[in-house]
Amino acid sequence: VTPVLAPIAIRDAFAQGWERLSAGRTDTPRLDAEVLLAFVLGWPRARLLAHLDDPLTPENAARFEVLVARRATGEPVAYIRNVKEFMGLDLYVDPRVLIPRPETELLVERAIGIAPPGATVADIGTGSGAIAVSLLKARADLRVYATDTSAEALDVARRNAARHGVAPAFLHGSLLEPLPVTPDVVVANLPYLSHDELASLAGTSIDFEPRAALDGGPDGLDVFRSLFTQLPGTSTVLLEIGAGQYQTVPALAPDWTWTVHRDLAGLPRVLEGYGA
Ligand SMILES: C[S@@+](CC[C@H](N)C(=O)[O-])C[C@H]1O[C@@H](n2cnc3c(N)ncnc32)[C@H](O)[C@@H]1O
Repeated sequence: VTPVLAPIAIRDAFAQGWERLSAGRTDTPRLDAEVLLAFVLGWPRARLLAHLDDPLTPENAARFEVLVARRATGEPVAYIRNVKEFMGLDLYVDPRVLIPRPETELLVERAIGIAPPGATVADIGTGSGAIAVSLLKARADLRVYATDTSAEALDVARRNAARHGVAPAFLHGSLLEPLPVTPDVVVANLPYLSHDELASLAGTSIDFEPRAALDGGPDGLDVFRSLFTQLPGTSTVLLEIGAGQYQTVPALAPDWTWTVHRDLAGLPRVLEGYGA
């Protein structure tokens, strides 16, 4: 006779998950347990807290255990739930793409603000499509191209464009090479971490993200160097940078006119450049 598993209360599953995550690779064990349990149930978090005494089916208890085990290894919640909010949009994400960061919203806000009506904009290194998709949602008048060297990332980006009903032109290739036209505005969040920075971040959630989305070469500037060889003729460029790069990156294109924008934490994270 197959033994029948008695259902456990949501409260007990939550407590067990929280305890297990407290010993795992996360700084937010309680929040993660709540979010993952709500995800398993398909409920908003608030509903979970109002139903702590309800039973959890054995199937859901087992699913929750699997997700807690994944989170305990340090795998980001965004990859486990396959969603990350960016510019108010729910984007599909998985380990083929970098998880969009809140800092990058500053880049998009700036692009929304400065792109002339009807302009052609290129999102270089589109990853999940975060920039291209959110820009088109806000500015339907723009013609948006989106490139990436990763065909796998482009699959994710296409999925996000379809989900949000916009249609950037996706192109596979390096930097501006695949573009059929010279864009009016280039927007890019390209890999900019140096090898020292990558080494110091080992053991964090970036272990789960594509290295090609993060690795900017030995000093973190390799991709910018290549980009600048392709930029002539383009009038405006918006670049996300590492907080320590607001002088080194403009120095690679000294003829351009540069403005630095700070993020909410006061860190210099976006460069706005006008071509020579
Ligand atoms: C830091 S991620 C940014 C992803 C997305 N734009 C975002 O802001 O969330 C950098 C992206 O650039 C892509 N990439 C790296 N080198 C590239 C190159 N030479 N040309 C085009 N894309 C590149 C990577 O595959 C990755 O998807």
